[in-house]
Amino acid sequence: MDVVLLSRWQFAITTIYHFLFVPVTLGLTIFLALLETCYVTTKREHWKEPCKKLIKFFGAIFLVNFAMGVVTGIVQEFHFGMNWSEYSRFMGDIFGAPLAMEALTAFFLESTFLGIWVFGWDKLPEKVHCACMWLVAIGSNLSAFWILVANSFMQHPVGFAVENGRAIMTDFVALITNPYVIGEMSHTIFSGVATSGFVLLIICAWKIARDESSREIFLQVTKAVSVYLIIGIMGAMGTGHLHAQYLAEAQPMKLSSVEALWETADPAPFAVVADINQEKRQNDAEITVPGLFSFMLYNKPEGAVQGINQLQTAAENQYGPGNYIPDVTGLFWSFRIMIACGIVIAGLGFLMGGLAWIKQDLLLKLKGLLTWMPLLLPLPFLANTAGWYIAEAGRQPWIVVGLQKTADAVSPNLTTGEVFLTMAGFTLIYLILAVAAFYIACRIIKNTTIEAVNQEGRAL
Ligand code: HEM
Repeated sequence: MDVVLLSRWQFAITTIYHFLFVPVTLGLTIFLALLETCYVTTKREHWKEPCKKLIKFFGAIFLVNFAMGVVTGIVQEFHFGMNWSEYSRFMGDIFGAPLAMEALTAFFLESTFLGIWVFGWDKLPEKVHCACMWLVAIGSNLSAFWILVANSFMQHPVGFAVENGRAIMTDFVALITNPYVIGEMSHTIFSGVATSGFVLLIICAWKIARDESSREIFLQVTKAVSVYLIIGIMGAMGTGHLHAQYLAEAQPMKLSSVEALWETADPAPFAVVADINQEKRQNDAEITVPGLFSFMLYNKPEGAVQGINQLQTAAENQYGPGNYIPDVTGLFWSFRIMIACGIVIAGLGFLMGGLAWIKQDLLLKLKGLLTWMPLLLPLPFLANTAGWYIAEAGRQPWIVVGLQKTADAVSPNLTTGEVFLTMAGFTLIYLILAVAAFYIACRIIKNTTIEAVNQEGRAL
C-alpha cells in the first residue's frame, strides 16, 4: 500500500469512528431540550419527578457519547496537518475560516452551556436550566454546519480564486450559502434525529423487556421517541432524495456511479442489483426497473442521465488524461445499504410507535422483538457510514473537486511505516475507547430504574 492509500485509510477510520458519536449528539441534544421543555411546562405535577429522572438518565448517556465525539474530532484536525499538508497548504485559507468559526461560535457555546447544564441542576431556575440545553443543541448543530461548509467546498467549490498555487477565499457569503451545504446539512440533521431516535427506541425496548419497575414509564417514552424517530427518518429520506436530484447537476459522475449507469440513457433505468465490472466499464449482469432513475431525478418517467463513460470522456477533455471514475461497486452497494437500513428503521419505528400508542398489551406480548431488538443497534450507524462513503469516495480522484487531486494532497515527507504505525495505534485506542464507552452506557441503562407514579405520587 502506498502513503496516499494508507493516509486515506487512516482518515477514513478516524472519521467513521468520529461519526458514530456525532449524529447521536446532534439528535439527542434536541430530544433532551424538548424533553426538558415538557418538564418545565407540564401542569401534571406527578409527571415532574419521573420526567426529571428521565432527563438525567438520557443526559448521562449523552455525556458518554459527547466525550467520545470530542476526543476523535480533535484527532481528525491533526490529520490535516500531519498527513495532508499539501491539502492544508492549498486549502488553508478557505478551510481555516469555517473551522475557526466552528471552534469560536459553536464548540465554545456547546461545551460552556453543557457544563452549566450538568452542574446547574437545582441551582439554576428551571427555565434557565432548560435554556442551557437548547443552547447546547444549537451549538452542536451549528458546529455541524461549519464543518459541512468546509466539506461542501471540497465537493462543490464556490467563492474562491486560485493565486500562486493556493485557493483564496473571495466571497465568504458564497461559501456559507453554497447550495451543496443545504443538501448536506438538512440530510445530516435528519439522519442525526433518526439515529438518536433509534438508539432511544432500542433503550426503550431493552427497559420494557428487562426492567419491570421501569416498564410503564418506558412504554410512555416509546410513544414520544417513535414520533421523533419517524420525523427523523422521513426527513432523512426526503432530504436524501432532494440532495440526489441536486447531485444530477452538481456531481453527475458521483450520481451515475451510485447507479452504475455506464452509458447515457433517456429514460434511465434504476438498477436494483448489478454485477459491476469496473475494469471493463460495464455491468456484466443487472436487474433494472426501466425509467425509474429518470423518474427519481426529474419526477417524470423520462429525461437524459449521463453515463459514467461519457462523463469520463468529458472530464478528460476538461482536465487532461486520467481516470476520473470513482469506486462504482462500493458506491452502488453503499447507496443500497443506506436505503435498506432506512427502510428497516422506519418499519420498526412505525411498528413500535403504533403499538405503544394503540395496543400496548400486544407490544408487551412481542417479547422476542423487545429482547432481540438491541442487536439491530448498528443499523443507523451503518447507514451513516455508507452515506459518508458515498459523499467522500464519490468525489475521487479529487480531494477538492476540479482543483486538487487526492494524490497531490498528501504530505510529501511521510513514509509508509509512519502512517501504518500511527494508524494501527489509533485503531487500537479507538477500539479500547469504544468498548469502554459501550460498557459504561450499558451499565447506566441497566442500573437506572425509573418508576411511573400516579397522581398521588405512588409508583404504578
Ligand atoms: C431514501 C433514503 C435516502 C436517500 C435517497 C439518501 C441519499 C443520500 C445521498 C445522495 C447522499 C450523498 C450526498 C453527497 O454526496 O453529498 C447521502 C449521504 C448521506 N446519507 Fe443518505 N439517503 C437516504 C437515507 C439515509 C439514512 C436513513 C441515513 C441515516 C440514518 C442517511 C445518512 C447519510 C449520511 C450521514 C450521509 C453523508 C452526509 C451527507 O452527504 O449528507 N441517509 N444520502
